[in-house]
Amino acid sequence: MSGAGKAYFGRRYMLSASHRLHTDALTAEQNRAAYGKCNNPHGHGHNYIVEVLVGGPVDPATGMVINLMDLDRTVNAKILERFDHRDLNGDALFATQVPTTENLCRAIYGLLQGGLPAGQLESVRVEETENNFFEYNGA
Ligand code: NI
Repeated sequence: MSGAGKAYFGRRYMLSASHRLHTDALTAEQNRAAYGKCNNPHGHGHNYIVEVLVGGPVDPATGMVINLMDLDRTVNAKILERFDHRDLNGDALFATQVPTTENLCRAIYGLLQGGLPAGQLESVRVEETENNFFEYNGA
């Protein structure tokens, strides 16, 4: 088979975590207006679905873009061990930014970028509910 084009491989992971959306930059009333129920002081949980898309040339020897066991190992070590069944507000990455799913998506992208071969990570997509998803590609 010929062709030097890029191929893409995506894989889904489950991530359960809790968060509370609140920022000290806003008043209590402004926080409620911005975040609604998600500003509840007791926090709440989500079963996030994290989709990681990697891309690159197909290795002629293996026929693969990336070995999925390598990707799983990186996602487990960098993302799941850090965030799964945790309170996102307690993570150092969210000490100075609100753990919205936009920011979670960016945090996951940054952590994976450091753990995968240069240029392989294309994007991270996080589904928060069946109706909401967020996507970040680092651009
Ligand atoms: Ni929420």
